[in-house]
Amino acid sequence: MHKDPAKKYRPFPPVSLPDRQWPSRVLTHAPRWCSVDLRDGNQALAVPMNVSQKLELFQTLVKCGFKEIEVGFPSASNTEFTFNRRLIEENRAPADVWLQVLVQAREELIERTFESLVGAKKAIIHLYNSTSPAQRRVVFGKSKDEIKAIAVQGAKLIKERLPRLQGTEVVLQYSPESFSGTEVEFAKEVSEAVMDVWRPTPQRKMILNLPDTVEVAMANVYADQIEWICRNIKHRDSLIISLHTHNDRCTGVAATELGLLAGADRVEGTLFGNGERTGNLDIVTVALNLYMHGIDPKLDFSDLGSIIEVYERCTGMTVPARQPYAGELVFTAFSGSHQDAIRKGLAEWKQRGGQQPWDVPYLTIDPTDIGREYREVIRVNSQSGKGGVAYLLESQFGIELPKDMQREFGPIANEEVDRLGREVTGAELKAMFWREYIERNKPWQLKSFETEGKNGVVRCHAKFLRDGKPVELSGEGNGPLAALVHGFGKAGVPRFEIANYSEHALSSGEEAAAIAYIQIKHADGKTRWGAGVDTNIELASVRAVLSALNRS
Ligand code: KIV
Ligand code: ZN
Repeated sequence: MHKDPAKKYRPFPPVSLPDRQWPSRVLTHAPRWCSVDLRDGNQALAVPMNVSQKLELFQTLVKCGFKEIEVGFPSASNTEFTFNRRLIEENRAPADVWLQVLVQAREELIERTFESLVGAKKAIIHLYNSTSPAQRRVVFGKSKDEIKAIAVQGAKLIKERLPRLQGTEVVLQYSPESFSGTEVEFAKEVSEAVMDVWRPTPQRKMILNLPDTVEVAMANVYADQIEWICRNIKHRDSLIISLHTHNDRCTGVAATELGLLAGADRVEGTLFGNGERTGNLDIVTVALNLYMHGIDPKLDFSDLGSIIEVYERCTGMTVPARQPYAGELVFTAFSGSHQDAIRKGLAEWKQRGGQQPWDVPYLTIDPTDIGREYREVIRVNSQSGKGGVAYLLESQFGIELPKDMQREFGPIANEEVDRLGREVTGAELKAMFWREYIERNKPWQLKSFETEGKNGVVRCHAKFLRDGKPVELSGEGNGPLAALVHGFGKAGVPRFEIANYSEHALSSGEEAAAIAYIQIKHADGKTRWGAGVDTNIELASVRAVLSALNRS
């Protein structure tokens, strides 16, 4: 990289718009959407879709609720032409769906495009030519007037042929391609020249699409450009202003949202942002961003999983794990504090019967609205808190650690996970727990434990090994544990008491065993937890006492 980038690159000139209005506006409704998956998205694939893949994706787009779909570039190849013909001849487009086709301002291409549209019910004919200084100089070697003439010529060729599409409702669309890199005054001049040919009216509007073909500036600059055009172009009320952003600076979504604030009516983009280079605008994200503010996006992503499945199969692309809303990890929390907060938030939401506005920490929307779920697929790594550890032990093995014991075991597990330097599975956590508590048999190991009760007094007789040597003790109390503690005291073991006790059956895989958790408190006030497993609950609790003593 350059030490002084200013020697190689230059800042983007801002638009002069001191009284810009868009920063203080808010979005209140969804724009008109146009999917360009089958054209812009398709042309960016290593292996473009074949006709049957395009048909399948087309049906999916219709199911999502798209009413305008750019189906291709019919003059570009036989596949594109055939696809268009099949859509029309097999009557695959619902009556309210517009088939949009893209064409350059060249007579033979326009001819072929018209052939591809015969019999369509609703069609948008989309003419484009590039207008930025770099395109004028490098690609076309033409002056501003010559570039404008290309647009005007294309507009005329289209207008002359319109009578051929009898029975087809047609809307015309023009894009000054590379608009965001073009001087706004020149973009206006070219667009108005096209308008002079097509003569749109408020009743018969044309679409003026203003592409951010390459993101060359920050999203606020694009918004300024859109507001400038909306305020300065003639016959604004005869235009549908459309946005078409790409994502070179990773702000395609922001540019579109600010462009809508700036006065645009329509948005072009693709599912999950497939498209040239860093992609087109991700329509799913913009739509669900509106949804999370309570605005009906007029697109249905309630089964996002099956849309992803069709998209990945047809395009050969994959949706990244961190893709907003759609990514596999979007509704998964790794850090313990996140897990805890989400669990509490979801519990509050359920408790109120889903009657209050959604306000669950870390989850911008209810995953179930788009067919996903917060499954608490908690993965424990060194960043996870005790909550994640406890959750995995409980959900996978039915081990319900008392809260206070979670505080003791959490850091022990974390230290071990940290040492391993990777995520651990539930089974590995259980093995850690077993090593730490259940399998502790030094210095104390149980050989036998018997009790008898009379008049509310329980007497116990226990045999242990202590450091491998047999020890027998007996004691009495108001229950087996009290008798055991008494017995230890008589045998000269430093005094301790039972501070906490709980037990439950272990559901699966433990041969109907029970698990007991016991916290002992020593005379100096120090506490230790222990746990024991046995088919006999009394023996499970004796083992838990030994576990706590062995850990002291
Ligand atoms: O990105 C772009 O400018 C385009 C145009 C053809 C609209 O895709
Ligand atoms: Zn594009």
